[in-house]
Amino acid sequence: MADQQARPDHELGPVLVVIPTYNERENITRIVKRLHAALPRVHALVVDDGSPDGTGRVADEMAAADERVHVLHRTEKAGLGAAYVAGFRWALERGYGVVVEMDADGSHAPEDLPRLLDALESADLVLGSRYVPGGSTVNWSKSRELISRGGNLYSQLALGARVKDITGGFRAFRAGVLERIRLDTVASQGYCFQIDLAWRAIELGHRVVEVPITFTEREIGESKMSGNIVREALWRVTKWGVRRRATQLRGLFAAKAEAGASGGRRPR
Ligand code: GDD
Ligand code: MN
Repeated sequence: MADQQARPDHELGPVLVVIPTYNERENITRIVKRLHAALPRVHALVVDDGSPDGTGRVADEMAAADERVHVLHRTEKAGLGAAYVAGFRWALERGYGVVVEMDADGSHAPEDLPRLLDALESADLVLGSRYVPGGSTVNWSKSRELISRGGNLYSQLALGARVKDITGGFRAFRAGVLERIRLDTVASQGYCFQIDLAWRAIELGHRVVEVPITFTEREIGESKMSGNIVREALWRVTKWGVRRRATQLRGLFAAKAEAGASGGRRPR
């Protein structure tokens, strides 16, 4: 593996790790420390939605003491997707070459990030994947695993996306991918944001690769998973799937009509 510490940053430019937080006071310091132990030169952006537990203040203290740490304060809890969109804009405005998504609760191991960044050298988007050989989940409830596996299966069927873990939240983007995705049209608020972005990257023809990761359920604090998040994912993925089928059918009819007009000969 290339030695990340020996080079100033990634060959694609400076790396920003975006960490959305809502009530992660006990976790945020620890995860940023682990990140910098693994990759001393990367920058971290904490995107806090006005956490009542004071996560934003803890992040501000870290930022005051460490120039690699930045904080984006938002006024209300508006979902993981909206927090990431804000973080991505922040990154693009400042010229980062690589933008990473990572949870604050320790479920994503910063020690795995060098492998994701290495894979980005020959990819446009690297997905940390629990469902490729070598990937796994630790301490997850059966019900949670079922939702996750079901969500992935449904996305594969509806979207035809040949990706094993399209819902995961540990990934690395080349900044250029985020520039091409029209962030102002991303409406996904909850975890379907992950499906939304991976799907858009695939549709744009980007090289999307999966790298195995171990997802370890948090020890401190609570998941923000909810019924609304599942429902939003279900209706949005269904909508995207229907739209995809409609586009395919239109293409089929157009081709048939053209073949008919040219007397049954195949158009050149
Ligand atoms: N700013 C902000 N606003 N942060 C949020 C919000 C929000 O509304 N909701 C969640 N977060 C933050 C959490 O504080 C945490 O750092 C991270 O986003 C992930 O939230 P969790 O609540 O811990 O997610 P999870 O463990 O249930 O789900 C994880 O796995 C899913 C796939 O199975 C996440 O990685 C999801 O993104 C992923 O889809
Ligand atoms: Mn979590």
